[in-house]
Amino acid sequence: MERILVIGANGQIGSELVEALATQYGEGNIIAADISPRSLYGAKVYEVIDVLDPVRLAAVVQHYKITQVYQLAALLSATGEQAPLKAWTLNMDGLLNILELARLRGEAGKPLKIFWPSSIAAFGPNTPAQNTPQFTVMDPTTIYGISKLAGERLCEYYFQKYGVDVRSIRYPGIISYKSPPGGGTTDYAIAIFHAALRGESYSCFLKAETTLPMIYMPDAIRATIALMATPAAQLSIRSSYNVAGLSFNPRELAQAIAQKLPEFSIHYAPDSRQEIAASWPQSLDDTVARKDWNWKAEIDLQQLVKDMLKNVQVDKTEVATLNAAA
Ligand code: SER
Repeated sequence: MERILVIGANGQIGSELVEALATQYGEGNIIAADISPRSLYGAKVYEVIDVLDPVRLAAVVQHYKITQVYQLAALLSATGEQAPLKAWTLNMDGLLNILELARLRGEAGKPLKIFWPSSIAAFGPNTPAQNTPQFTVMDPTTIYGISKLAGERLCEYYFQKYGVDVRSIRYPGIISYKSPPGGGTTDYAIAIFHAALRGESYSCFLKAETTLPMIYMPDAIRATIALMATPAAQLSIRSSYNVAGLSFNPRELAQAIAQKLPEFSIHYAPDSRQEIAASWPQSLDDTVARKDWNWKAEIDLQQLVKDMLKNVQVDKTEVATLNAAA
């Protein structure tokens, strides 16, 4: 029986992963954990964990006889630039604490399977931007991206040297409606829906033509659970897998929104996040993920926009007024 610990359960991925895992493995087998005192999303089993506290981490894993850990606690790209040392410490030591715990438990005959998220931020300005290959130049410029690249190397190291069963995905920008935008460069593509549904013009911090790889949350969750369920012998990558969803830029996204909400408008006020976005790929080659664990994205831009407009929560009175006007 799987007993699964999700660290960072109040975050963007964690909030949705806990629900999906609960459906698959049973609510009682999913232990949601985060640094704040309570679950923001109604998890049945919740523990307060600071991933920088290895003693507490080991105690929770022992107590619940955990078999899998998803370590999702991190600072994202834009927030990380505000506090680089904090981002480095959280992102690196958080991962190292989990890997060390998995190593020790493995040696004691109690193996832990680990999931850790990497990102398109692990690439940089000298990476080929179109159809970015699995293996290529990686020269990240943000502290977040540097921590992701170093983290990928650590994952592969712990697998090669200690046999730790760690798996990872280089997520594109993830778009979702359950949690608020969380300090990422790709989060313009979430904030834009909130503005659209409030009836506001959206001030975009990226230029209109800034194409980035993105993925809609249901696809991201499906990819994550599928990778974790794949027999270890099928996996050829122990750093992190390229996974493609779809690619678009702010102008294309705004146009797709305007097809549903004709009143919607966007204007552009690029800030320091533009430079970060410009250093990242525009599209990804995910051939290896397709081959190793049958990955294939399903959700296109039209479906994504329709679903986001239906589900993003803003003040209902404003939305009703807006819909009546449209
Ligand atoms: N979505 C993340 C960010 O923009 C990238 O992994 O920081």
